[in-house]
Amino acid sequence: METKRIMIEDRKNIKDEELAEAAAVLKGGGLVAFPTETVYGLGGNALDEDAARKIYAAKGRPSDNPLIAHISCAAELAPLVREIPEAGRKLMEAFWPGPLTMIFPKSSKVPYGTTGGLDTVAVRMPDDPVASRLIALAGVPVAAPSANTSGRPSPTTADHVWQDMNGRIDMIIDGGPVGIGVESTIVDVSSPVPSVLRPGAITMEMLREVLGEVAVDPAILGPVKEDVKPKAPGMKYRHYAPKAELTLVETTGPVGRMVEKVKELAHEKLVQGCQVGIICTDESRSCYAEGTVRSIGARESQESVAHNLYAVLREFDDLKVEYIFSESFSEDHLGQAIMNRLSKAAGYKIVQV
Ligand code: TXA
Ligand code: MG
Repeated sequence: METKRIMIEDRKNIKDEELAEAAAVLKGGGLVAFPTETVYGLGGNALDEDAARKIYAAKGRPSDNPLIAHISCAAELAPLVREIPEAGRKLMEAFWPGPLTMIFPKSSKVPYGTTGGLDTVAVRMPDDPVASRLIALAGVPVAAPSANTSGRPSPTTADHVWQDMNGRIDMIIDGGPVGIGVESTIVDVSSPVPSVLRPGAITMEMLREVLGEVAVDPAILGPVKEDVKPKAPGMKYRHYAPKAELTLVETTGPVGRMVEKVKELAHEKLVQGCQVGIICTDESRSCYAEGTVRSIGARESQESVAHNLYAVLREFDDLKVEYIFSESFSEDHLGQAIMNRLSKAAGYKIVQV
């Protein structure tokens, strides 16, 4: 299949003509990758089981891993869900449009092919003007997982999508690099106490301010045991994974101690003749003299770290690095999402110093 790539000229002034063909592809059951404020999504009609099947095939994703239905305005939620619990209403008001996905009991309109056989449906109203306009023009809710091959880091630029999806989907809309860089926060509002299934840019602190009590799914905090079924089926897969073996170094002490350990572990592999990548920060960059060193952003700015995370992991893939050693980050605010993705990418290989 030939994949058409189109470019959005001016994100602040999108003309409907620019998105008309993409909207027609979605309406006709085809697949279109598009930017959102979190990561690029791979879209298909959420009400069409055939489109869902095509999404799973293009990603090489297990079909028991449900998809998020994306909408363009609040009125599009009601037809997809059986009820909107109080917590859902409050969160919609506070954070939609934005990087928040909520799990609701699904209506009969949403096919099981989209929800991986579950009686619940994940819904998000993205804040990105391209995503929002595209969904509105398509006139259907748009199922969209991250537009990467299953198991690879999520795409934060149209080039990342091109690398994974060229020849597998109908169209890619290039809207420039995304803003946030990690996937949306997922909150299950279908249970009595709302619980966070995946951390993101709507942080625990922000959710608590609106809801008071919020639970955290254990799958966020550590490896999922064989016999435990995480509530977000996607959390059980080795996600966000670079091709190299990634080790995270953590400390409760000063940052300098962590930097010394990263240098030591990297050196051990370098003297064996291995290709070694190092993930550091703007602040620590000058401490490293060997290996392929990449700053992931400023330790001072969690936003910059989230923004660059997947691009750095993908760059190490391209450079055929065999081992990556990374500094770690505090787990407050956006740091929880950063550490959740890094720990999973590392397969929970974490060295404490
Ligand atoms: O930021 C995002 O959410 C991006 C952009 C494109 O919107 N999308 C995204 O989708 O990250 P995906 O498919 O890569 O991740 C969706 C996650 C998976 O872990 C899946 O298991 C979970 O959401 N999920 C979807 N529906 C669910 C449901 N009904 N119950 C529990 N978890 C669900
Ligand atoms: Mg994904």
